[in-house]
Amino acid sequence: MSSLFSPFELRSLTFKNRIAVSPMSQYRAIEGYANNWHLVHLGRFAQGGAGLIYAEATAVERDGRRTHGDLGLWEDAQIERLSEIAAFISAENAVPGIQLAHAGRKASERRPWHNETPVNDEDISERNEAPWQAIAPSAIPYADGWPSPEEMSVADIERVISAFGESAARSLKAGFKIIEVYAAHGFLIHQFLSPISNSRQDDWGGSLENRMRFAVETATSIRRYWPDDLPLAFRLSATDWLDGGLEIEDTIKVAEALQQAGVDMIDVSTGGIGGKDRPRRMKIEQGFQIPFASDLKSATGVATMGVGFLWDCKHCEQVIETGQVDMIALARELLANPNWPLQSAIELGINDNHELAPIESGWWLMKRDRLLKKLGLRWQSPDNDG
Ligand SMILES: Cc1cc2nc3c(=O)[nH]c(=O)nc-3n(C[C@H](O)[C@H](O)[C@H](O)COP(=O)(O)O)c2cc1C
Repeated sequence: MSSLFSPFELRSLTFKNRIAVSPMSQYRAIEGYANNWHLVHLGRFAQGGAGLIYAEATAVERDGRRTHGDLGLWEDAQIERLSEIAAFISAENAVPGIQLAHAGRKASERRPWHNETPVNDEDISERNEAPWQAIAPSAIPYADGWPSPEEMSVADIERVISAFGESAARSLKAGFKIIEVYAAHGFLIHQFLSPISNSRQDDWGGSLENRMRFAVETATSIRRYWPDDLPLAFRLSATDWLDGGLEIEDTIKVAEALQQAGVDMIDVSTGGIGGKDRPRRMKIEQGFQIPFASDLKSATGVATMGVGFLWDCKHCEQVIETGQVDMIALARELLANPNWPLQSAIELGINDNHELAPIESGWWLMKRDRLLKKLGLRWQSPDNDG
């Protein structure tokens, strides 16, 4: 029996295992529209055995994109290509999810391989990609050298909260079964939550209760369109790793309020708020964010997803088995090996005959294993050589 490969239920959904594909922006969309790249990128994870596959950060309004290449769901015509992706994933017995996002002061940024700095003249001359004005809770730039965002008016706040709801309605039409709201890594909702980026004096800033209002109202807005039988998740940065920033105690209170607003699972990441101080307290090692998820789960009882520097399936098995988290999400390990779930199942002794693989590959791999074993040539899993 494997815990990692045991099913997990949220509302009416059953995930066949505890492995999620963490959202991974491809910066390959044009005007927010998905294309074949996204179908293949996400589709191969369905073939590889993951239980939940999240499409990348998808902007709820055009100016809420982080880069020119971000996906979007701010207009109905964007539904169609995404629906092909969701249908493919569902047909392969995985759950299609989507991450809804607004970049706030991180909007108008260059792609990672162009240094993640603000869009500049080179983008205009080489790619015809012009900068745009970013908005944020307060007019505090993301980092030194970044332009100042425009402080959001109350009308801006109401518009963006509604846009999350409308994009949720489009996500439903596209066939996604779970939404994750991107409220981590210094994106707009995190900017409201963190005192580092929110210095508002009105109902949307100041106390934690006020700073979390935007997140809670976003959840409420989504729940207006998102059916009761489908789960809603939030990705939070449990800590800013900075003195004066968010700490796990704050995040526990945020998670409690989100639960009240109809949120079922918290995907627990950390960091990303920016500012002039480097997050010196951050120490990266395998599973370094799991303790935050575990604390959040024991304090609130909310379902949690653990993420960040996970690659060893035995370690993942143990964090699920000991109840520290309910699901795990992987990004870079899956980029390196989209078949990580299937191969992990072999390593954990529950996929010896490739029965968890799609028949189109599993049948051949089973035959090959038998032949290799018979000929004494190569046997992939000596532990299970029974
Ligand atoms: C190519 C790439 C794109 C990413 N894009 C997103 C994104 O759109 N939304 C998000 O929440 N995190 C994004 N992340 C962060 C991952 O989801 C994940 O949290 C992080 O990479 C840590 O997990 P890992 O150690 O398994 O890679 C991205 C990471 C990578 C490698």
